[in-house]
Amino acid sequence: MGIFNRKKRKEPEIELMDGVLQRLVSYVTPYRSRLGMAIAFGMLAGLLNGLFMFVLKDVFSVVLPSAGEEDAATHFTPFADLPIGFLQSISIPKPVLEPEKEWIFILAVCMTMPAMLLLRGLFNYLHQYFMLWINNKVLFRLRDECFTSIIRQPIAFFNEAKQGELMHATATQTRACADAGTQMISAWIKHPIAIISILFACFAMDWLYTLGAFTIFPLCILPVALIAKKVKRAGGREEIESEALMVTMQESFDGIRLVKAHARESYQRTRFNRGSRQLLDWLMRWRKAMEISTPLVEAVAAIGISLGLVYAWKTEMTAAEFGTLNLAMIAMYPHAKALSRMHLQMQRCAVAATRVFTHIDRKPSICDLPDARELEVANGPFELRNVKFAYEPETPVLHDLSLTFEPGKKYALVGQSGSGKSTILSLMMRFYDPESGQILLNGRDIREYTQASLRDQIGFVSQEIFHFHDTIRANIRYGQLFASDEEVEEAAKLAHADEFIDKLPDGYSTMLGDKGRTISGGQQQRLSIARAILRDAPILFLDEAMSALDTESEKKVQDAIEKLAAGKTVIAIAHRLSTILDSDEIIVMKNGRVEDKGPHTELVERCPEYKRLYELQFKVEA
Ligand SMILES: Nc1ncnc2c1ncn2[C@@H]1O[C@H](COP(=O)(O)OP(=O)(O)O)[C@@H](O)[C@H]1O
Ligand SMILES: [Mg+2]
Repeated sequence: MGIFNRKKRKEPEIELMDGVLQRLVSYVTPYRSRLGMAIAFGMLAGLLNGLFMFVLKDVFSVVLPSAGEEDAATHFTPFADLPIGFLQSISIPKPVLEPEKEWIFILAVCMTMPAMLLLRGLFNYLHQYFMLWINNKVLFRLRDECFTSIIRQPIAFFNEAKQGELMHATATQTRACADAGTQMISAWIKHPIAIISILFACFAMDWLYTLGAFTIFPLCILPVALIAKKVKRAGGREEIESEALMVTMQESFDGIRLVKAHARESYQRTRFNRGSRQLLDWLMRWRKAMEISTPLVEAVAAIGISLGLVYAWKTEMTAAEFGTLNLAMIAMYPHAKALSRMHLQMQRCAVAATRVFTHIDRKPSICDLPDARELEVANGPFELRNVKFAYEPETPVLHDLSLTFEPGKKYALVGQSGSGKSTILSLMMRFYDPESGQILLNGRDIREYTQASLRDQIGFVSQEIFHFHDTIRANIRYGQLFASDEEVEEAAKLAHADEFIDKLPDGYSTMLGDKGRTISGGQQQRLSIARAILRDAPILFLDEAMSALDTESEKKVQDAIEKLAAGKTVIAIAHRLSTILDSDEIIVMKNGRVEDKGPHTELVERCPEYKRLYELQFKVEA
């Protein structure tokens, strides 16, 4: 796996999708009215930042009047410097009060500040509320599209894909996209308006000082920009590393039996920690880049304030003015910082969005034709005509295979492991399309039917047993979602599963672990059979359906399947003689070809391959 030479490996480049951020924003635009509200409240909150500065200055003037500001001591004119007529004319005269009661007026004036902040907080809250609402909608849609697209991919896709990556994309990366998508919009509204309104207030108060301050400001941005550029990729790498971590976790938990059987806990731990450390390294780089900006900017700002003090002394600025101007600059800083960090966040978001959209855009290699028809009842022959198939190019698995399965008959597929038996069933269920040749059902190519209607006609007991983390009842009902409890129990009875289910303390309500770990292999197989029985489809595929059963229960299940199979087309991949002897025709497979077919008595006589299998496998139980 090369996990030990990972350090030396060249980092894979992150290829971003074109226009990925615009596409993300297009997920937000359907919610125009809410977005409008969010923008309106965001703007109001932003504007209040500037307005606050005007009020602040006058509060200072009233509370701490400097020389030449005697006027201020008699009137509170919160928007004196604001060049908007009606606001400017607001002037509250100081009531005539006894000196010991003057503090009441001062308190009232001071209270305008918390009042304004409260108002700004309210607007901010409403802004956030609407953005969150949109965020939820976007996240839901992204997850839905991502999951739906993944689950519609054919089996071939899942053979290659890493489950951990798929889960990471659907759960985590969609979240990152939605957050970033809405936060970007929010940030692009709030911060510039806050900055502009505060700037406006500053210029109205003392344009020269403000101008001076803002020649220094770019100096603050410069080092930040330089550093940010250098480590821009770190944010994106973090996404990729956490994906890898997810894969390791998923594999460790999924393959826990293998891990334990080989006592590889500490090996898995090493792998996990290697990934974990790498992830944290990248996170560290990213955070370092983000965090270095704060002390840098602060240092430059302190120089600015020192120079400003000299200017204030020279121009005999009032304390209220000087204090307000500097507070305004400081109030602007978080907004400027947020804006300057935006592109780091956008970079990260672009990586996550690229992943998510790649999943959403993936066209399944097997899909229904636009004019696909519904298969009503599979009552005609199932036919393979000159079918060629390979999982990997260059290694053909089936060579020019032709077979006909008549309706209502029983077939047994035999052959050594790897001869292509399971592959035939997979092709007939259209898990894969053949490379050349045709598969026909009721005289039509199965590609002409919808996949769902084709598979509706087939009951399948797979070689790989799987059960959901759910009750036994729900697991059987998966075969027929609308079956009643009685029908479920009837199916379990036919599969001889009721014998062990009744012994379980919770009976049909017993929860199965992921992959059905809490019951034995033979019991799991009986549940799979019950599920197929409940499905009651006219065609039945049994892929070594009885391999995990002991001889005793096999006889019972055999008997159940016989009842079930009456009038159905059955193709059974069999390891046991009993299954084979019951079939109308035995098909002997060898290296992806049909070696011979016929009834048992003939094949033992004339087919050496069958004879070999019979001697090795079947005869033992006979
Ligand atoms: N998902 C897959 N990807 C690549 N090769 C596969 C895959 N599944 C099966 N094969 C190969 O195809 C051949 C036939 O497999 P299969 O149909 O499962 O055989 P059988 O069921 O007769 O044991 C084997 O050589 C196997 O290695
Ligand atoms: Mg097989």
